[in-house]
Amino acid sequence: MKVTDTSDLWWKTAVVYNLDVETYLDWNDDGTGDFQGLAHRIDYLAELGVTCLWLAPFYPSPQKDNGYDITDYYGVDPRYGHLGDVVEVFRTAKDRGIRVIVDLVVNHTSDQHPWFKEALKGKDNHFRDYYRWRDTPPANQAENAFPDVEDGTWFLDEKSGQYYRHSFYRHQPDLNTANPEVRDEIAKIIGFWFQLGVDGFRVDAVPYLLDDDTPDDPYDFLRTLRRYVGRRSGTGMLLGEVNLPHDEQYEFFGEEDGDGLTMQFDFVTNQALYLALAREDARPIAESLRSRPVLESSNQWGNFVRNHDELNLNQLSEEDRQFVFEQFAPDESMRLHGRGIRRRLPPLIDGDPRRLEMVYSLMFSLPGAPVLYYGEEIGMGENLDLPDREAVRSPMQWSDQENGGFSGASKRKLVTAVTGGGFGPEYVNVAQQRHAESSLFSFFRALIRTYRNSPEIGWGEFSIVEQPFDAVLAHTMRTETGQLLAVHNLGSEPHTVPVALDDLEPGTRVVDLFHDHILEPDEKGRFDVPLDGYGHRWLRVVHPGDKRLT
Ligand code: NOJ
Repeated sequence: MKVTDTSDLWWKTAVVYNLDVETYLDWNDDGTGDFQGLAHRIDYLAELGVTCLWLAPFYPSPQKDNGYDITDYYGVDPRYGHLGDVVEVFRTAKDRGIRVIVDLVVNHTSDQHPWFKEALKGKDNHFRDYYRWRDTPPANQAENAFPDVEDGTWFLDEKSGQYYRHSFYRHQPDLNTANPEVRDEIAKIIGFWFQLGVDGFRVDAVPYLLDDDTPDDPYDFLRTLRRYVGRRSGTGMLLGEVNLPHDEQYEFFGEEDGDGLTMQFDFVTNQALYLALAREDARPIAESLRSRPVLESSNQWGNFVRNHDELNLNQLSEEDRQFVFEQFAPDESMRLHGRGIRRRLPPLIDGDPRRLEMVYSLMFSLPGAPVLYYGEEIGMGENLDLPDREAVRSPMQWSDQENGGFSGASKRKLVTAVTGGGFGPEYVNVAQQRHAESSLFSFFRALIRTYRNSPEIGWGEFSIVEQPFDAVLAHTMRTETGQLLAVHNLGSEPHTVPVALDDLEPGTRVVDLFHDHILEPDEKGRFDVPLDGYGHRWLRVVHPGDKRLT
């Protein structure tokens, strides 16, 4: 895809913020967050500076997988409100310059979805072929996504004697995306939400969604979806969940044509980040960034620190994973499925503000678009008393009042428990941080503002800058009109980092965007960057005559 007009490619420099309506703000005090509550917090999100809101599934659901088990793609779980309230949120967000994307969960439905209920009626039922059935499970079954909960991916329907496929929980039967009618249903769902005003979709579980049973190219389906998105919404995008090695992700992007998924989360670099933090050594991140394929210019990476699932370490070697476990999840109860950590970042690093700021500064400086998970902007922790992944899904902490200001309902009526301890609302909340200059929230505001003023990060050509310290990552992004150098110290030792940049005109200055500091490169483009332990700097290269604000 050739880019002619870059203004439509808003995702290239988006700041995405993910939340679940259920746990954000409860406006009617029934114990569950709702769309009215969210509508009242759009100004908060605008103040923080985010440009795209990603809403976790809010559709009617038995809630056996936090809403990723859907019974109606066109509705709203009545606990959150109704479609009118949803549209109100879309409208308010748009008015404040915030785009909205919603979860598209079409690898599977809930087993309570009317399609599956029909399909269970018998082999001749019209909806039978909406799902994937076999008389006997294949000899080499793919591993279930929750291997310690489910035995395999095929489950026997005793009535018909056939097995249906479920890549996730057994109550989530996989849709048969090879069936043209299912593809039409998916198109209709996408069309519906575009019509209501969304700007794109976070596409759940993409690798499972592609059909590997038919002789067609499995990526054709993605291309078809993307073309359809283009027709229905010229500026719509698909942000895919593909937790695979970089070379395989490249295929999901549509390789050099870039006509598959628009964006993908970079799970590889996310996992490398935690290994780097655990070792206080930046080299795993550099290695991961070097292994990224160069994308077609309209595609983009989504960078992130944490999300609503366990911190999945499945792409690390066994030895590296164990090392990260020992550092960050010493207790077995902190681990999940043998591959992940059910914690948020701040408690892993004892809430050390220098390290926290360094990690987010690093994440925002990586080529791509940053994706935040609600509560990261204030440094929320997890609640290990809650089961499974619920630990990282506790209510947003607005104040030190009852229930952290999330809801006026009595504690026992809350949809999920508020976090306690040192990271609970008594110590970590929005009200306390919003007006404090030295708070994490204020840091995030400055970080987001600076990211938005640095289009080099989303658009630029990336390279790693050689320097002598293993704990340090120095990288630069460059467009025709600008260049940014980011330097991060993963270790506690301060360093003076010698760097050299090519092609600097005489008189070029290097301006620190977070601290009041200007560096003067010598005639060979060399200069020293002083870095504290866990320090970070974003440096803009300002050529003589450059009129950009720094
Ligand atoms: C990925 C989602 O992130 C996760 O929360 C969910 O359980 C599975 N997909 C199944 O939908």
